[in-house]
Amino acid sequence: MIQTSKRPSRISVSPLAGTLGAKVDGVDLTSPLGEELLHEIKSAFYEYLVLVFPEQSIAPADQVAFTRQFGPVEGHPLSPRKGVEGFPEVLVFANKPGTPGSRNDFWHSDISFAETPPAVSVLYGRTITPGCGDTMFCNMYRAYEELSEGMRRMLDRLTALHTSEALALRNRDTNSDGLPIFEIPPPSRHPVVRTHAVTNRKALYVNPYFTSQFNEMTRDESRPLLEYLYARAARPENVYRHSWNQGDLLMWDNRCAMHYAVYDYDDSQPRLMHRTTAGGDRPR
Ligand code: OGA
Ligand code: MN
Repeated sequence: MIQTSKRPSRISVSPLAGTLGAKVDGVDLTSPLGEELLHEIKSAFYEYLVLVFPEQSIAPADQVAFTRQFGPVEGHPLSPRKGVEGFPEVLVFANKPGTPGSRNDFWHSDISFAETPPAVSVLYGRTITPGCGDTMFCNMYRAYEELSEGMRRMLDRLTALHTSEALALRNRDTNSDGLPIFEIPPPSRHPVVRTHAVTNRKALYVNPYFTSQFNEMTRDESRPLLEYLYARAARPENVYRHSWNQGDLLMWDNRCAMHYAVYDYDDSQPRLMHRTTAGGDRPR
């Protein structure tokens, strides 16, 4: 139960896994939420890190309006894929015959290579082929908290470099919905252990797709420890795997969760998603 409001809850929040993720029923995201409901949703979000709103039927404008309640809505800094007509900040993930969607089957936190990466991502499932294209999430608070004190103390002092190199390489594949990326910005340096701006909890903030190395170590020295941290983070007990239904809207907290798009389908199994992001603070 969420203890932040004494008023009876108008929504129902049901946990989906032991470590993170909850389903929120009783909300229609086409209408403005109102202060009280928004407060309830935010409390659930900070507790569960990933929220699932099933059976939504929303337009791009609704998704933008919903996302804006969590921070300024931002486009992708590198424009790696098409936006929705009239809504360039709504990114289209489209897998269809002849044009496979570009892959996201790696653990990552969205756009962590930016100086101020997005706090929140919102992903809406418009077309789903049942049974495939799940998205997995893992809890990076827990990944940190479960380390030994000695390891935590060492990681607390480190920073890491995050680069968009892998994204640019991925998008060189022309037979996909990805657009070419012509310029790679210099890497950003972020703390390895990040203090969440709202909850004040510490979370591991490194990911296999964008983090290249610890800034204070060589790449070779960094790799084994990073691999260990990723393996800890992604162990089954620390993961929620979402099996999509059309109309699901998911939101997740990039400051304390990683995600992974399972690539177990091909271009004959249509999948169309819309993604928005709400901007956040510089990691500290
Ligand atoms: C994303 C992403 C996962 C998916 O929207 O940032 O990684 O399942 N998508 O499509
Ligand atoms: Mn992503």
